[in-house]
Amino acid sequence: MLRRNNYGLIPSSEITSESLYQERRAFMKLGASAALMGSVPLMAALDFEKSKRGLEPTPFDQITTYNNFYEYGTDKESPAKLSKNLKIRPWTLTIGGEVQKSLTLDIDTLIKKIPLEERIYRFRCVEGWAMVVPWVGFTLASLLKQAGLTSKSKYVEFETLFDPVQFPQQSKSFGNIPFPYREGLRIDEAMHPLTILAVGLYGKELLPQNGAPIRLVVPWKYGFKSIKSIVNITLKEHQTRSTWNQIAPQEYGFYANVNPSVDHPRWSQSRERVLGKFFKQETLAFNGYGNEVAHLYKNMDLKKYY
Ligand code: MTE
Repeated sequence: MLRRNNYGLIPSSEITSESLYQERRAFMKLGASAALMGSVPLMAALDFEKSKRGLEPTPFDQITTYNNFYEYGTDKESPAKLSKNLKIRPWTLTIGGEVQKSLTLDIDTLIKKIPLEERIYRFRCVEGWAMVVPWVGFTLASLLKQAGLTSKSKYVEFETLFDPVQFPQQSKSFGNIPFPYREGLRIDEAMHPLTILAVGLYGKELLPQNGAPIRLVVPWKYGFKSIKSIVNITLKEHQTRSTWNQIAPQEYGFYANVNPSVDHPRWSQSRERVLGKFFKQETLAFNGYGNEVAHLYKNMDLKKYY
């Protein structure tokens, strides 16, 4: 029996490599059908589950070569090209601010201790492209609980490493991006079981261009919320900073929930292009995770709080 829930969660024991994914895909193409489900191997059954939901993982090569990582430049190719030497070990993550106990964690110690799981999530960039990513990680909630929340833990702020030697664009004075990159969530969003910190994808360690060694993933929000290469997590009492919101508040809201009926001022959000696919598809409210998260925004006007 599959331990699978609406969140696209499968047990960590089933984390697989890309080649296994492709083999299973080939198997499905060879004609495994629902009628066979009882007898086909578990992995093929899983694959069937995924294709039913339209969660066919985007090829590894595309996820790792078409990136947004402004610390390396504004085009999609620079991150993969320029990030090869990013020093991701040792790497320290701090959790502080309004918590019971501040933590300073070594990334490897953390990864060894915390159970990892795979989450296959849709990912939607505010620019209109999308993909499906088999992340490996753990819930942000599980980490925040270790630090312990207080009545003042109302928002969570994340900060990317500031290191202009490694991130060339951070020292460019002509850019209008206030580095380090920062993002924030409301505490109920941060504690939601869909919100994860990812340390891998396709069963492998994250590559630098995807935000190694640890990045946020909030699947119902536009991709810019999913901040990369995090060093600091700070609990705050008041709404936190958010880089894109700071640069252009009329274009990028603090909430940034995927919403086909609220257009970006310069383009429509009603459709999206999945990397590697020819035809565009409809954008889903909350990126398809409405059943799980819509209640968080029950009394909010999402046209105002975009
Ligand atoms: N994090 C940092 N530190 N710097 C960035 O420029 N870009 C964001 C987000 N996280 C960004 C970042 C944007 S706009 C998107 S769409 C996603 O990362 C892209 O993630 P990917 O390159 O892994 O697909």
